[in-house]
Amino acid sequence: MTMTIQKSGKTGPDLAFAINAKVKQAQAKFGKANVINAVLGTLADDEGNIIALDSFYKRLETMDRGLIASYAPIEGEKTFRDTVINLLFEDYRPDAYIEAVSTPGGTGAIRNGIFAYADIGDPVICHDYFWQPYQKMCREFDRDFRTYNFFTKDFKFDLASYKKCQDEALKEHDRLVSIINSPGNNPTGYSLSDEEWDKVLEISKEAVARGKKITLLIDVAYIEFAGDGEQKKFFNKFSKLPENLMVLVAFSMSKAYTAYGLRSGAVIGISSYKQVIEEFKDAMATSARVNWSNGVHAPQLILVDLAKEENKGKYDKELASLKAMLKERADVFVGEAAKHNLEIIPYFGGFFAFVPTARAFEITENLEKENIFTIPSAKGIRIALCATNKADVVKLVERIAFYMNK
Ligand SMILES: Cc1ncc(COP(=O)(O)O)c(C=O)c1O
Repeated sequence: MTMTIQKSGKTGPDLAFAINAKVKQAQAKFGKANVINAVLGTLADDEGNIIALDSFYKRLETMDRGLIASYAPIEGEKTFRDTVINLLFEDYRPDAYIEAVSTPGGTGAIRNGIFAYADIGDPVICHDYFWQPYQKMCREFDRDFRTYNFFTKDFKFDLASYKKCQDEALKEHDRLVSIINSPGNNPTGYSLSDEEWDKVLEISKEAVARGKKITLLIDVAYIEFAGDGEQKKFFNKFSKLPENLMVLVAFSMSKAYTAYGLRSGAVIGISSYKQVIEEFKDAMATSARVNWSNGVHAPQLILVDLAKEENKGKYDKELASLKAMLKERADVFVGEAAKHNLEIIPYFGGFFAFVPTARAFEITENLEKENIFTIPSAKGIRIALCATNKADVVKLVERIAFYMNK
């Protein structure tokens, strides 16, 4: 007998967290040093310990308890919302009306974006390598999640497939939400080029010219780890867009502030129309109120504090060292893959790299027997560079190449 309604929980447990439980068991049995853990999306030092930034956590430790305990405004502190917009866009702020509303991480931003901009049964389109919760959210809210081919044979964004999926979806619907996770895509490490963004906008504009409503929901969870500023250039393209082309950006404090468990982020709306943005703010605040009420106050206050001129230096330095650590691991991964003739999806940034193969489950089962843990999927193997050290990356690539050639 089931007491829950049919669709509730039907997607089963999260694979990454299930494999992480196996990592813990192996570590307890064989010792941490004898286990390669390339599973979860949290930055770890070379000994495998989660990194928690000093600049961030010192503030939390010394923060007035009354402030930590207090409710934040439903839409988030005004200073937080302004700071998020400045930090996110830097020199590439679009010429448009822009508002930010706080959410519990990027997850909350994506949830509210899907809920408010696609109705029950409406299509939500996404590339076919994607972060699983997108699909699970669509199931939960009865939105129609559809995928298109992410890559052409030479690993460029498959624009023809994108357009086909959009046009197909709009045959029987007047609106859609398109989720794009770039730069530093999870699970592949891919980033759309500026030219590819131009084309995405061109394709969207064709549909909106026919009266359709399109919302681009851009998940930038890994943006701070996908370049040195130039990766934000594409934001500039969202200036002066038509009224029925809305852009939402899901901002997360989890990765760039190592604040995964503190659940903070924001959904940012971009539109050339004031009324559209006022409506956005109202819809996001209402969804917040009925789902989680207000966001966690402390991380909002810390973000504002860290962005102040007198504090910025220390945080920026810490972030730069995290980026350098990740880049070194990624360089080793790309170099070793080339050495072993192992095909990978071009890595541009983010926490993960990806080996495409139809034999992922068989290969990762063999890897697990050697205490090497990664995440398999129908399309290949995801490797969490954020969690592994360089020596482990070398070994891991060698073992994947071994089983691939078997
Ligand atoms: C692609 C992607 N989007 C969004 C998130 C959301 O993260 P959070 O809700 O912790 O901000 C994650 C976290 O793993 C992610 O990988």
